[in-house]
Amino acid sequence: MCGIVGYIGARNTLSVLIKGLKTLEYRGYDSAGVSFIKDGELNLIKKKGRVNELEEEVASLGFNLDEHKTNKISSGIGHTRWATHGAPSDENSHPHLSMNGKICVVHNGIIENYAELRKFLKKKGYEFKSETDTEVAAQLIEYYYVKSGNNDIEAAVCRALADIVGSYALCILCVDKPDQLICAKKDNPIVIGLGKNENFVASDITALIEYTRDVVFMEDNCYLVMKKDSIEIKDIHGEPVEYSVSTVEWDADAAQKGGYAHFMMKEMFEEPSAFDATVRPRIQDERIYLEHIPVDKEFLAGITNINIIACGTAYHAGCVGKFLFEKLCRIPTVCGVASEFIYSDPLIDEHTLTIVISQSGETLDTRNAMKIAKEKGSRTIAVVNVIGSTIAREADYVLYTAAGPEISVASTKAYTTQLGCMYLMAIKFAYTLGCITPEKYKEYHAELLAIPEKLKAILSKQNQIQRFASTQFNADSIFFMGRGLDYYLSMEASLKLKEISYIHSEAYAGGELKHGTIALIEDGTLVVSPITQDELASKMESNIKEVRTRGATVLAIIPERLAKNSFSCDEKFVIPDCDEIFAPILGVLPCQLFAYYMAVNKGCDVDKPRNLAKSVTVE
Ligand code: AGP
Repeated sequence: MCGIVGYIGARNTLSVLIKGLKTLEYRGYDSAGVSFIKDGELNLIKKKGRVNELEEEVASLGFNLDEHKTNKISSGIGHTRWATHGAPSDENSHPHLSMNGKICVVHNGIIENYAELRKFLKKKGYEFKSETDTEVAAQLIEYYYVKSGNNDIEAAVCRALADIVGSYALCILCVDKPDQLICAKKDNPIVIGLGKNENFVASDITALIEYTRDVVFMEDNCYLVMKKDSIEIKDIHGEPVEYSVSTVEWDADAAQKGGYAHFMMKEMFEEPSAFDATVRPRIQDERIYLEHIPVDKEFLAGITNINIIACGTAYHAGCVGKFLFEKLCRIPTVCGVASEFIYSDPLIDEHTLTIVISQSGETLDTRNAMKIAKEKGSRTIAVVNVIGSTIAREADYVLYTAAGPEISVASTKAYTTQLGCMYLMAIKFAYTLGCITPEKYKEYHAELLAIPEKLKAILSKQNQIQRFASTQFNADSIFFMGRGLDYYLSMEASLKLKEISYIHSEAYAGGELKHGTIALIEDGTLVVSPITQDELASKMESNIKEVRTRGATVLAIIPERLAKNSFSCDEKFVIPDCDEIFAPILGVLPCQLFAYYMAVNKGCDVDKPRNLAKSVTVE
């Protein structure tokens, strides 16, 4: 939620800030702003709307945005917002200025005791221009800065942090210290990018990789003093904190659209290579290697049950994982959404293995759930995409998905690569436990390695989905219906459709429809039905008959071998054959394409759907 960027160096600061904000816009996009110190004066420009509108405003005020020309700015910060406290408006946009105009702050997170602090500051004579919790932080820092009378902004920040309850990534400018900026972090990410005689900060590495690959991931309860030629990280008592520099492998092009109309399209087209990069290096010499996760008989003997926790799309990947761990390993497994798990008094102990799944590695609900699991003694494995993210660092073991930067809010390649990790783990566990034969183990390797070519074959037929979507995009409501693994696939397909096309949609287990929802089927209702499981195909055929009898139009997503049967549906999208347990990896791609084309036909903003943000760091 919300994107922060900061820069000190000889480049055109405004160009670095605006470009960085555009890269981070997927984190929030209802307003944006920049603040910078030039010729000893603090400037503030902010606006409701997208970063493009801010860019126009900055240019119209006569500021030079040409990246090849320096603009002699001492330091600058920027923000793109996803509103929590106060509606999207110019006033509520960040940065927020303190009352004496000396201190400017951008913030991600939530200051929980902001009402109390606001009351306190009002009593001290402070006036507020916005409804935000962030303005409280700016005023509180000013209060301590002025009170101490010693021009020590660092001390004022530390003192203010001691009063603040909640989560924050704060980035602070003070006009009296034009050549530095201060950041503070708790439960919200801050990455520092190290350059030569220049330094950067941002909410995530995508905003930095154009300039540097050397990054430092800040830890919680620390603050940073950044100058162009130095960084110092300290704890809230002002004591220096050690840090390590990581090198990021992602290249800058990965965070660009590269000729595609939308990031989502580009990312769907990257699914074959992302899946390959996640799976292939881990299958060597007829074995599966899961880096440092010690999967041996002893490790597995200590596990009586598995607990998978995630949110949204990652949760749907977890549901497939649950199926696999039970089917292949016979380990009792539950998969739950993190926000429910946290308050469910979960049955977990040291014999439970907890697997959390998160693209961003920052989702607060997932992070909190993992904390609870750890407190109860469970070992934790995190399946994460963003390298060095908080969840990756806090888990006992991490298995990275090699999806590269995923910019579109709608998750696509992250999902298929999360599935890749689920299969790798379940197959490895099953073999180690002796639940599958060496022959089956090898067969499964071959199935996984064959997936990328099959995904490419699906992409080569995307026109069929495009054509079909062009006849259906006026639908008010669409049902997805499947059984077994196809039910989990339907859940993901339904989420994808609703989040980007705003069409109401529900996913149903085929057998459940007749217990209520079939009442909603009428002439022309669209039902999308993945049918990839041989044993369940005849049951699905009956379900399809039931809805067609009541006027539904049915799109079936079906593998070659089943497509040969004479299914009575209106449209068939045929996917390549594979062992049926791998079908969710192939079946999801036509559903993602379908959601995409429905949204495009409706004229929706595919990459930045309304009300959503990519990284959800509030509860
Ligand atoms: C997917 O398309 C979503 N935008 C959303 O459901 C997402 O999967 C969820 O918020 C979890 O995010 P994470 O993987 O970064 O934890």
